Amino acid sequence: MEDKQVLTVTPDVHWVGVLDPDLIRFDVVMETKFGTTYNSYFIDADKKALVDTVKEPFWPVFLEKLKQLTDPAEIQYIIVNHTEPDHSGCLPQMLKAAPNATVVGSGNAVRYLRDQLGVEFSHLIVKDGDKLSLGNKTLTFIGAPNLHWPDTIFTWLEEDKLLFTCDAFGCHFSHPVMFDDTVGDFSEAFTFYFNVILKPYSKFVVKAIAKIASLPVYAICTGHGPILRKDWKKYVDLSGQLAAAALELPKKNRVLIAYVSAYRNTASMAERIADGIREAGAGLEVDMFDMEGVPMAEVERRVEEAGAVIVGSPIINQNILLQVYQLFAIMNPIRDRGKLAGAFGSYGWSAEFMKSMETNLLNLKLNFIDKGVFVRFTPHENELRECLLYGQLFGEKMLEEMAKCAG
Ligand code: FEO
Repeated sequence: MEDKQVLTVTPDVHWVGVLDPDLIRFDVVMETKFGTTYNSYFIDADKKALVDTVKEPFWPVFLEKLKQLTDPAEIQYIIVNHTEPDHSGCLPQMLKAAPNATVVGSGNAVRYLRDQLGVEFSHLIVKDGDKLSLGNKTLTFIGAPNLHWPDTIFTWLEEDKLLFTCDAFGCHFSHPVMFDDTVGDFSEAFTFYFNVILKPYSKFVVKAIAKIASLPVYAICTGHGPILRKDWKKYVDLSGQLAAAALELPKKNRVLIAYVSAYRNTASMAERIADGIREAGAGLEVDMFDMEGVPMAEVERRVEEAGAVIVGSPIINQNILLQVYQLFAIMNPIRDRGKLAGAFGSYGWSAEFMKSMETNLLNLKLNFIDKGVFVRFTPHENELRECLLYGQLFGEKMLEEMAKCAG
């Protein structure tokens, strides 16, 4: 079906976004089994305004939709709630089509757009609480940073009681009817989106929800997926609950020992390190597992829940193994910053690449302690004792960190 429709949100506000039902992966890494939409809204006020644009390849469709409602040259303001290119991608073309338009966004948004566009543009930087008159309508801007970039704001349209939130409260779910009360069940997509995109920023989710709590909202106009006009509160509350649960993590007393092992040499080391940690304190928990064959989503869940991470790898062909690189790829400096970290493993003729585990963990902003424990080929009694002592040292450090947090 050709995507030509515009939708009425209120008599003066229309959805002019686009459907991308066949998208199978977003931002390279996120599966989108329900496709997605890139939502943009046209506000037909005395001074015409657009809230966000859409991903660049959809420019022709987007322009056609806008032309159904207005002459794009008459648009005076383009509100940019967030500058990730799935929302700002059509801004260069839009500024050509609306040459008198002023781009409105946070200071960060304007800085990011300068780099994205490579040219100067007319802009207005807004801060939390700033208002912008559109003549017969008023926009109020709400600082909502890190949802999910530092640039993000929400925009409140007072007269229509619409809150434009871009990524927040959205989800990757494509359905042409677009409203929460007509698209069917999208709860799976909503929770998955929250977990992948917003969960690392849960404390900012909680702050943003507090800021909007007293607004008399008619509908939340999201940047992806259904417009929330019937059950918007359900999705705000669910976001708050998911964020609160995420903030309970990590468990400071839990250490994850994640390893791979070809001949059980690295596995034996893991077991002795675990013994050492348990000996360091009865209150310490060890979550130890071999990553081979374990889905990365499961590995990520266990990383998220742990207050400390120790990574183990053998060396094969002078390199650590793929599963360990994948572990580093799913670690997140925003979520995992400051966690205690360590490394271990068995090598053969070259120990050179063992250092890369420390380098990766430090680059990911974890707190790498000591220097790790590495053994040539098979760990015998002395080497296993070294692993035990390393585990004890690691456990003692965990207890010190826990005492600092408690104090
Ligand atoms: Fe939908 Fe963070 O962009």
